[in-house]
Amino acid sequence: MVNASRMAGVVEELRERSAAEANVLLGDGGRSEATTKRDSSGAPAAPTGFRTPFRFESDDTLLVIDQRELPHALVEEPIRNAAEAARAIRHMVVRGAPAIGQVAAIGLALSARQARSARPYARRAILHGAANILRIARPTAVNLRWAVDRLMARFAEIGETSPDGDAVAAALYDEAMAIVAEATDDHARLAEAGLAILPQPEAGPVRVLTHCNTGPLACGQFGTALGVVQAAHLAGREVKVWVDETRPYLQGARLTAWELQQAGVPHTLIPDMAAGPLMARGEVDVVLVGADRVAANGDTANKIGTYTLAVLAERHGVPFVVCAPLSSVDLATPSGADVPIEERSADEVLMIRGIPIAPRWTPVLNPAFDVTPAELISAIVTEEGVLRPPFGKSLAAAAKRRSRKRPPRAAPEPAAPEPATPEGATTDDATANGAPAEAATS
Ligand code: MRU
Repeated sequence: MVNASRMAGVVEELRERSAAEANVLLGDGGRSEATTKRDSSGAPAAPTGFRTPFRFESDDTLLVIDQRELPHALVEEPIRNAAEAARAIRHMVVRGAPAIGQVAAIGLALSARQARSARPYARRAILHGAANILRIARPTAVNLRWAVDRLMARFAEIGETSPDGDAVAAALYDEAMAIVAEATDDHARLAEAGLAILPQPEAGPVRVLTHCNTGPLACGQFGTALGVVQAAHLAGREVKVWVDETRPYLQGARLTAWELQQAGVPHTLIPDMAAGPLMARGEVDVVLVGADRVAANGDTANKIGTYTLAVLAERHGVPFVVCAPLSSVDLATPSGADVPIEERSADEVLMIRGIPIAPRWTPVLNPAFDVTPAELISAIVTEEGVLRPPFGKSLAAAAKRRSRKRPPRAAPEPAAPEPATPEGATTDDATANGAPAEAATS
């Protein structure tokens, strides 16, 4: 049993750790001389240590870990403006709902920095264009639009045609840093809330099953669902994690297994389809997943395969818990039916790391996310505590509590429509039948 003081200590430790990581992230200490770390033979070095997914190299450049290369190599890619941030997001260099919101915000702030000496009307056009490119980089995770809208609200607040380019750049930088810092604090509070409801088996470890990747790589600091796992581990709780490999992009196999290894949390990688038999044998105590967008009624969009897990969990009486900061909650989206689901490249299904696993030209359907209906969700863990059904009420109340603590700025401009084909989609984004790979379909 974890008592309250022990738990408070764990959350404090999480905060301290994340502050140390934020130092690397935001301070001078983490600057590297090269964007790619290499071993003595010149090959990219194998990663070591627990890492945030991005950090500043200089005032002009953010370095993001190229998550496509993990776990085999630690390669960093520079981002100097919103266009480069949008490209990195679209191509999965950086991924995970909270992380893409943070990188988008920093990318937009860097564009404002580059436009410091532009004429006011030109700067306004540049920033509006940059914001639109970012908003459409990926359609499902609402954190992206939320973060960009927040920076644009700050821009509106200081005056979009202000002649003071330095002041505009400084304000947008401050707002982006506030988003990063708030995420750290929110995720710590979310972990604290999640730890309190983790099942306590009479003997042996609590057996958590998780899907996709919800650790620091996806969140900027220590994670949402994996943040709860990490908090439990730090609290001295015995934890065992079943890691879904998460076909087809393998975020579980490549990223979650790597992060749990770094954190020293016992885990076992499983094929996605092993989840059902494990639950049937009573070997799963709780399913913990993240969210890319929680609709106003609690329907939750998350990585493809999440819905299947929720159905299995209900069948076997296993609690199914979503861990999501309120920046992933979209009260303007009434239900899951209104969430745009990203479709990604056929190659992600036809190949593994460039090696074909199906006949060429096989028609492919590759939705990156699915929607779990609210009635299959036992609880939604947020920085405002554990929310229970009916989620329509509990989500609205939590959002109200949060906005009382951090009043929203001037109303953000309406989001750009989510188009069928993202601007700048390249041929490598195309599906086998030539359809746009990242089309937003409702
Ligand atoms: O396509 P990805 O890798 O960006 O998808 C990420 C997920 O689905 C995560 O589960 C989600 O963003 C929650 S992360 C806290």
